[in-house]
Amino acid sequence: MGNSGKGYFIITFGCQMNEHDSEVIAGVLQSKGFVKTDKHENADVIILNTCCVRETAENKVYGMLGRLRRLKTLNPNLIIGICGCMPQQEEVAKKIRHRFPYVDLIFGTHNLHQLPDLLDKVLESKETVLEVWSTNGQIAENMPIKRENGIKAWVTIMYGCNNFCTYCIVPYVRGRERSRLPEDIIREIRQLAREGFKEVTLLGQNVNSYGKDLEQRTDFADLLLLLEDIDGIERIRYMTSHPRDFTDKLINVISNSKKVAEHFHLPVQAGSNHVLKMMNRGYTREQYLELVEKIRKAVPNASITTDLMVGFPGETDEDFADTMDLVQKVQYDSAFTFIYNQRTGTPAARSEKQVDVNVKKERIKALIELQNKISLERNKADIGKVLKVLVEGRSKTNNDRLAGRSGTNKLVIFSGQEDLIGKLVNVKIVEASLSHLDGCLVNI
Ligand code: SAM
Ligand code: SF4
Ligand code: F3S
Repeated sequence: MGNSGKGYFIITFGCQMNEHDSEVIAGVLQSKGFVKTDKHENADVIILNTCCVRETAENKVYGMLGRLRRLKTLNPNLIIGICGCMPQQEEVAKKIRHRFPYVDLIFGTHNLHQLPDLLDKVLESKETVLEVWSTNGQIAENMPIKRENGIKAWVTIMYGCNNFCTYCIVPYVRGRERSRLPEDIIREIRQLAREGFKEVTLLGQNVNSYGKDLEQRTDFADLLLLLEDIDGIERIRYMTSHPRDFTDKLINVISNSKKVAEHFHLPVQAGSNHVLKMMNRGYTREQYLELVEKIRKAVPNASITTDLMVGFPGETDEDFADTMDLVQKVQYDSAFTFIYNQRTGTPAARSEKQVDVNVKKERIKALIELQNKISLERNKADIGKVLKVLVEGRSKTNNDRLAGRSGTNKLVIFSGQEDLIGKLVNVKIVEASLSHLDGCLVNI
């Protein structure tokens, strides 16, 4: 194929869906003879897989594209590609083409499966290849995937989002909800088990609306039950679940499962009914708190994490106080916190009630301070407990020790032999900080 030994380098921004799409891109490049390089300076193909959920993510990409000009001058045969959510917006694709004419390949989220052909076109012609589909593509099965990790794998169960939260760009760049067939998901996970993977994370923007578009109705709870039976897979995670669609049936299946992790990531976004309504989230704070209570009752050792946003247009001091109060009530194990960012094309971006930037900064500071205090307390409450940890490798901060994750998704560091990597072990927690737990191996 003529690419043998040529190097590729992929830079990924954004969420796990994008990380996983990059594994598909790597699979395609390897199937065409390219090999992964450790530095972008050594690559013959550089792909930027982009995110547009907030402006900061977009700006990083523009900065990087600017810096790549020098590499292209040094090596005119270098292929620079850009894909993912940014070029899925028509205006952005045009802007990239004009501002960075040395970019060779521009494609979107709906036509990732075309990558083999697009690459051929780029290799044959000297013209920029721009191919972005505006509507949902078919679900492409059997794409090659080069997974980074041999222990835990991401598995897409559905694409797109129908929720249209008023601040969010994702439904515009990822299209409507499309579920993969259960048999295709099972086949993929069985194969992962044969390859030695121990954990899977089921991916979708809203996994608990899985199956609503399938002819033969299988909902997310049914899917979890089907996956429970796959030998070799010891832990199942999923993300993200929308609080509105979290049914009693699902809580029941998770609480009785031996494999589904006891970690619930339930993005709340805001604690005020006024803001939740403006966001089109589809639940009230009371319904959310009731859901948390049900989960805590059914799965007493559950960890609960969330996404929180401050400064949504029209958010008053009272609304923000409601968010602080909800955070205090739920006692999240951890939270991703964001400052609301205007995204062109979304309803909230057109609101005239944008919150002052200094107010937003004050609110996020107060929120992070509160959540850090709670996270540390929650971690300290694990001291003395024995947690089941899937060992992932050596600790990045202390190479003499091993690191893994508990079912509650906490990072646990402990001493042990290398042959434990890939195994589930019992670790007794002896110390806790904001970022991780320290423990020692125990036999029980
Ligand atoms: N589908 C998931 C859900 O419903 O929670 C999350 C998807 S989104 C990629 C991840 C997080 O980004 C959201 O939960 C939200 O907190 C944040 N986010 C989305 N749009 C944003 C915006 N315009 N400004 C700031 N944060 C935003
Ligand atoms: Fe965005 Fe809402 Fe869909 Fe999540 S559920 S991806 S926040 S529109
Ligand atoms: Fe970003 Fe696209 Fe994910 S906008 S958060 S990479 S779906």
